[in-house]
Amino acid sequence: MSNKTILRLLYGGKSAEHDVSLQTALSVINALDFEKFEVLPVYITLEGKWIQGAKLSHAFTDVKELVFEENGINDVFPSQFFSTISEGEVVFPLLHGPNGEDGTVQGLLELLNVAYVGNGVAASAISMDKVFMKQIFAEYNLNQPNYQFFMKKDWQENFEKICRTVEQSLGFPCFVKPANLGSSVGISKCETIEELRDAFELAFEYDQKVIVEEGIVGREIEIAVLGNENPSCSVAGEIIPEKEFYDYQAKYEDGNTALIIPAEISEAVYEKLKEMAIKAFKAVGGNGLVRADFFVTKNDEVLINEINTMPGFTPFSMYPLLWKHSGIDYPQLIEKLVQLAVERHQEKQQIKHTMF
Ligand SMILES: Nc1ncnc2c1ncn2[C@@H]1O[C@H](COP(=O)(O)OP(=O)(O)O)[C@@H](O)[C@H]1O
Ligand SMILES: [Mg+2]
Repeated sequence: MSNKTILRLLYGGKSAEHDVSLQTALSVINALDFEKFEVLPVYITLEGKWIQGAKLSHAFTDVKELVFEENGINDVFPSQFFSTISEGEVVFPLLHGPNGEDGTVQGLLELLNVAYVGNGVAASAISMDKVFMKQIFAEYNLNQPNYQFFMKKDWQENFEKICRTVEQSLGFPCFVKPANLGSSVGISKCETIEELRDAFELAFEYDQKVIVEEGIVGREIEIAVLGNENPSCSVAGEIIPEKEFYDYQAKYEDGNTALIIPAEISEAVYEKLKEMAIKAFKAVGGNGLVRADFFVTKNDEVLINEINTMPGFTPFSMYPLLWKHSGIDYPQLIEKLVQLAVERHQEKQQIKHTMF
């Protein structure tokens, strides 16, 4: 038997970020040391089918090679996936958004009692829901934009009243967001009550729960957190979107968004960011990795926007770049995350499940 670690990559997924996940998988595979890892790819189709590929033993150049066709044997979900997991392996879910970053896949991996990279069920689920996340942040006294949230049924019955309430309490500009999606899908910036109404209608197409936040004028600064009980923070980075705000197009299509690493901020702001990022990580019970996103105003007020429990993870994404500038390159980062997964898994095996 070889002493290589079996690393099973889950990628693709039933999500708007399916293609981004494929790119991530390609980058991760190409960064892996095949002397240390035995790599098993599991492609999740847009319909949510899990298709297992043959063991990989070399790097790839084309993402198409990672997209497997179903052939009646390699379709592993849900029945066969359980029996294919072997002792000592580590699963790395390279999935973003709902059905991947939201605790559902993590729950399956918990049931299988297999080590997996990144955040657990609760941290993933809380962070995927912008309302739950903000409520927990408030509990930890983290400074954040004022917000309100509404359910679809309320909106349908009282939309005029809701618009007036938002206008009075949060004012314009404000940001309307579906509670549960990432990648800026369904998010609008509103300057008038008419825009607000349209924004609610759009956001309710994506979710039953919609959050509205006061608009903050500030720079967008992000920081990467890595670890389990005693996590470390990277240098900070700034995002300068070319568009008015960091919307879906700016994130994935334009490619014009500038990342400035390290961000030009004072030592005091950096200290504040680190303190708040660690607090947010602990507030949700983070494990492995989190990217914490902030607004920093002209007067150096720091407000937390959100945390991402599975941030963009190609070598050109903010999270790996922040670590690269902090002395941990992409291959090392992947190995560190695998090691953290193993450590957490081993610790969990010590937990008692019965009274005696
Ligand atoms: N309260 C706010 N004030 C100012 N800009 C905001 C606010 N909320 C969101 N934005 C802008 O919209 C972008 C996307 O919002 P965000 O909440 O980060 O959604 P996602 O989870 O999709 O990344 C942010 O990066 C920022 O540019
Ligand atoms: Mg964001």
